[in-house]
Amino acid sequence: MKIVLLGSGNVATHLAKALKAKGEDVIQVYSPNLNHAKSLAVTIGAEGLNDLTEIERNADLYIISIKDDAIESVAKSLKNVTGLVVHTSGTTDIRILSSQVKRAGVFYPLQTFSKGKEVSFENIPLCIEANDESQLSILNTLAAKISHRVYELDGEKRKVLHLAAVFACNFANHLYTLANKILNQNGLDFEIIKPLIAETADKVMNNLPENVQTGPAVRADENTLNKHLSMLTDMPELQNIYQTLSDSIKLTLK
Ligand SMILES: NC(=O)c1ccc[n+]([C@@H]2O[C@H](COP(=O)([O-])OP(=O)(O)OC[C@H]3O[C@@H](n4cnc5c(N)ncnc54)[C@H](OP(=O)(O)O)[C@@H]3O)[C@@H](O)[C@H]2O)c1
Repeated sequence: MKIVLLGSGNVATHLAKALKAKGEDVIQVYSPNLNHAKSLAVTIGAEGLNDLTEIERNADLYIISIKDDAIESVAKSLKNVTGLVVHTSGTTDIRILSSQVKRAGVFYPLQTFSKGKEVSFENIPLCIEANDESQLSILNTLAAKISHRVYELDGEKRKVLHLAAVFACNFANHLYTLANKILNQNGLDFEIIKPLIAETADKVMNNLPENVQTGPAVRADENTLNKHLSMLTDMPELQNIYQTLSDSIKLTLK
């Protein structure tokens, strides 16, 4: 399959490598920053470019993997292509593409990607959607080449999945950032908390999260909760987060 990749960020980088490893032919990488386009392109033997008018019009597949808010405007530049055009976004409607191009789809990988961290695509859930059965069949075949977990999911379900992913991944990671801030401000290193983070994630592999919740909120240890809140007096944003999450934990007990 001749593929044009629009985007050179976290997802585009991992997708490019996974597709290349399965023998797919990624011929061009577009990105507004030419250095970013070229530095990904060179790793997969593609052409790097930052001009949408130079995009090959006869590719089989166009994968738009850029900032969500820019997908629509980039899709407009693909109006006259005959290939299938997909995006990789959790919350962006397929109609943003199908209103511009004849053959539209979604190729959403449910994982957290960072350029510098290797991932194995085989176990990453790939959520696909298309504007007709024949496009869906093409995406199914391609997705099955790189992952054992392919899901046909409509846009509404995909958005729900993305919302849940923000809680499970993005917010959890942000809480690690805040934990690190508290540790650092008091001369402690993030290293000491890593076994706790690993065990917390490991426990929910075989248990419902609400069944393995620990800590002062679930025990209703009011003295400890109040001590923690007073330790955060100089950091009102963290104090708010602490209070909101503790209240939320208490609510799940009811
Ligand atoms: N990261 C994840 O874990 C993850 C997981 C699943 C799905 N997704 C989805 O995958 C897509 C890409 O996410 P990402 O995390 O890979 O993003 P990212 O690493 O932040 O990269 C963003 C890309 O968008 C390009 N871009 C920024 N503004 C643009 C514009 N106005 N016009 C055209 N291109 C523009 C950037 O180009 P330059 O660098 O050249 O400026 C870069 O290639 C998004 O739809 C996201 O929702 C992300």
